[in-house]
Amino acid sequence: MPDPIHFPNETQSNAVRETIGRKEPVALRTFTPSQAVLAKSAGSFHWTSEGRRLYDYSSGVLVANLGHNPRRWMQRFADYLGWQPDHLAGDGEGDYFEAVTLTAYNAITEIEARAVERLLGSIQASPGGSRLDTVMWAASGSEAVQKALWACLHADRNREMIIATRHGFHGKKGLAGAVTGSEDDPDRDPRVRFISFPREEIDDAAKYGQEIDLSRYEAELELLYSELGTRINCLITEPYLGGGGSYHPPNSYMQLLERFCRERDILLILDEVQSNFGRTGKMYAFEKYGVEPDFVCLGKGLGNGVPVSATVGRGDIIASLKYGEASDTWSANPLACAAVLATLDEFESTDVLANGERLSTIFFEGLERLKETGLITKVRGEGMVFGIECADAGEMPAGDVANAIVEACYLGEDRSDGIHLLGPLAERVLRVSPPMTMTESEARESLELLYKIIQKLAATLT
Ligand SMILES: Cc1ncc(COP(=O)(O)O)c(C=O)c1O
Repeated sequence: MPDPIHFPNETQSNAVRETIGRKEPVALRTFTPSQAVLAKSAGSFHWTSEGRRLYDYSSGVLVANLGHNPRRWMQRFADYLGWQPDHLAGDGEGDYFEAVTLTAYNAITEIEARAVERLLGSIQASPGGSRLDTVMWAASGSEAVQKALWACLHADRNREMIIATRHGFHGKKGLAGAVTGSEDDPDRDPRVRFISFPREEIDDAAKYGQEIDLSRYEAELELLYSELGTRINCLITEPYLGGGGSYHPPNSYMQLLERFCRERDILLILDEVQSNFGRTGKMYAFEKYGVEPDFVCLGKGLGNGVPVSATVGRGDIIASLKYGEASDTWSANPLACAAVLATLDEFESTDVLANGERLSTIFFEGLERLKETGLITKVRGEGMVFGIECADAGEMPAGDVANAIVEACYLGEDRSDGIHLLGPLAERVLRVSPPMTMTESEARESLELLYKIIQKLAATLT
């Protein structure tokens, strides 16, 4: 195992890094050179064990859309679970208090029924959500993807083939792993075939809004259909390539996929694990792209930090799964349902989407400005999720530049405020996805800080 990352003058953080680094496998995390130790968080900020403040440019990994530990969300979450302040204060009346159970395997709860009704209400009220009438809960994004694919494959066992879009990310486990990446993997599940997702034509915000030539993508789809015909069961894609490097296609590409599916009775699964709950500007990305999927996979922001995911889709297809075929310990647990309810409450009663829209303009401008430093060459994004692509700096390859930026942002200017970034995607792309509740002044201040840090780094590298 590599030696744990250490930074000078971070005694407490280094002790935590030592424990984790020696007693957990590095495989549990993607490499991030800062290995930040987060002691506490509020809103758009984390604080390290040494008390240094970091602007959070990741929201976990697009999870805390509403910011960290939002007071009103937390109050609602506690209320849904029946937790009262005096429960924990302890009034000497026994070791237990009456509240909603935390676990209800093979039973059902009132809170689950409320969460199902509310989630379906939200989805079906959104343009494009009319086919989505049944909720299949899960605990992680990859499980939601796996369950959607199970349902489709069970519904018609004569149609065993799945189409996925190349360089997508749907998770690492089971069928979710099988539809991730590309055919380059020699152990690829033979049921999965890949088609291209636009990248070169839309590799910078300057190219957005230009129509792209779809004929190449049409031809690929036709070729696959001529080979596989009615063996094709379903097509799964992300609204935008997230883990694959932040590529946001024009609506016409998504609409092409939808048309191809509709005309051939192929099920369309949209993996919104990363984009749901406002990230692309709308509550659900299918609204933004003007398509009507048969299934959406939800996760991450769905619970604002409590692990919960769901596949929401066509009940007639999901009904092919018999008792127990999609069950597990954590699906539909009351804690998760309370989190979904509290998150829906916030989205439905505040201006978080409008705030995200305002922030989006500020971030596009601030990130574009980074090109002046010479270390950033391309900026991509929509709503409140961006990818900034790093350039080579002299002898240093772009991937190393990206890691150097992550580290410099963590250390901040003169070791005061820093910025928490995820390690690079697709080797050279840095994800920027702060909470959508960030204030405009926090956005401007943090972008100014980012500019200064990258400019200073550029001076040392070039
Ligand atoms: C689009 C998409 N689908 C699925 C997943 C997998 O989610 P999880 O890591 O919760 O299994 C991710 C995670 O990043 C994702 O971005």
